[in-house]
Amino acid sequence: MTNAFRIGSYEFGRGAVLAPMAGITNPPFRQLCQELGALYCVTELISCHAVVYFDEKDKNRHKKRGQKTLALMDRYVGEHPHVVQLYGREPDVMADAARIVAREGADIIDLNFGCPARKVIKNGSGCGVALMRDPELLGEITRRVVAAVDIPVTAKTRLGYGRDEKNGVEIAQILEKNGAELITIHARTREQGHSGPVDCDYLKQIVEAVNVPVIGNGGIQSLADATEMMRQSGCAGVAVGQGAKGNPWIFSEIAGTGQRPDLASRVATCRRHLDLYVAWGGEQRAVTEMRKHACWYLKGFDGAAAFRKRLGEATSRGAFYRLLDEVPV
Ligand SMILES: Cc1cc2nc3c(=O)[nH]c(=O)nc-3n(C[C@H](O)[C@H](O)[C@H](O)COP(=O)(O)O)c2cc1C
Repeated sequence: MTNAFRIGSYEFGRGAVLAPMAGITNPPFRQLCQELGALYCVTELISCHAVVYFDEKDKNRHKKRGQKTLALMDRYVGEHPHVVQLYGREPDVMADAARIVAREGADIIDLNFGCPARKVIKNGSGCGVALMRDPELLGEITRRVVAAVDIPVTAKTRLGYGRDEKNGVEIAQILEKNGAELITIHARTREQGHSGPVDCDYLKQIVEAVNVPVIGNGGIQSLADATEMMRQSGCAGVAVGQGAKGNPWIFSEIAGTGQRPDLASRVATCRRHLDLYVAWGGEQRAVTEMRKHACWYLKGFDGAAAFRKRLGEATSRGAFYRLLDEVPV
């Protein structure tokens, strides 16, 4: 599998990108994935309104909420490029948020035009994938953000809103025309959510309709899946989302530098993930949020299901460690 593409001055070779996932692709997980060969990683989607609001307000008065939102754009020491994903539908606010994010040190801004979550697309907010139904506004947002910053802007979207509403080709052309330097396509429709078959034929049509690199995404669980998507669609590279949960080694597999290791190494990585999490989010948050990651890491041994049920007992780092010591490696 030979892939090479660029975003501005950043050049990428063989491997895969970590797709943004809310509640998952925070600094500790991004660091692990990048150490294991991810080409670059993307923060979870961040509301442009939140960025602007908390930047303008007295940060002490709004400390708790503001800090939690702004922490979504933290970079871990050495993260490069630092790719921050923004969402919103007001061009002015998106441009302001982009300026703030760039000022705070982001290397690349990724625009979210693919999220199907109710709170993002409904209740009049009309963001994320809803903007695929408003190509003009989507183009305007892209153009304004590109004009507001001097770092590269990329975008992530889907094949279309529904099975009978595939306009990914038109959307990709609009994104390119308005200055997006790379487009990630989740090769499913809004209707499909985050599961189900991907359509590499339509992905291919998108790839062929634009000159900027297209990264294909959806359903990649192995090197074979990545190779197949690239072969079928001609995409410049792939992004892995759910396939990286509990398996950051998928990036070394796709980069051709390693394989999923034995259980002992997976436990060791889980421990390290916990330590990185504590350093970033504090012990309480780390132990609560690491339980789901531990469930993903710790599969495939006798008693694994029973063991995973006990993760609720891990209420401190020490207790978490002691539980991990019990895994029969
Ligand atoms: C829990 C979860 C959270 C997600 N959050 C985001 C997000 O913040 N921004 C985004 O562009 N896509 C988000 N996605 C979509 C993924 O980036 C990706 O497109 C999707 O999961 C399909 O890829 P996969 O089959 O490899 O998981 C999310 C997906 C999941 C499962």
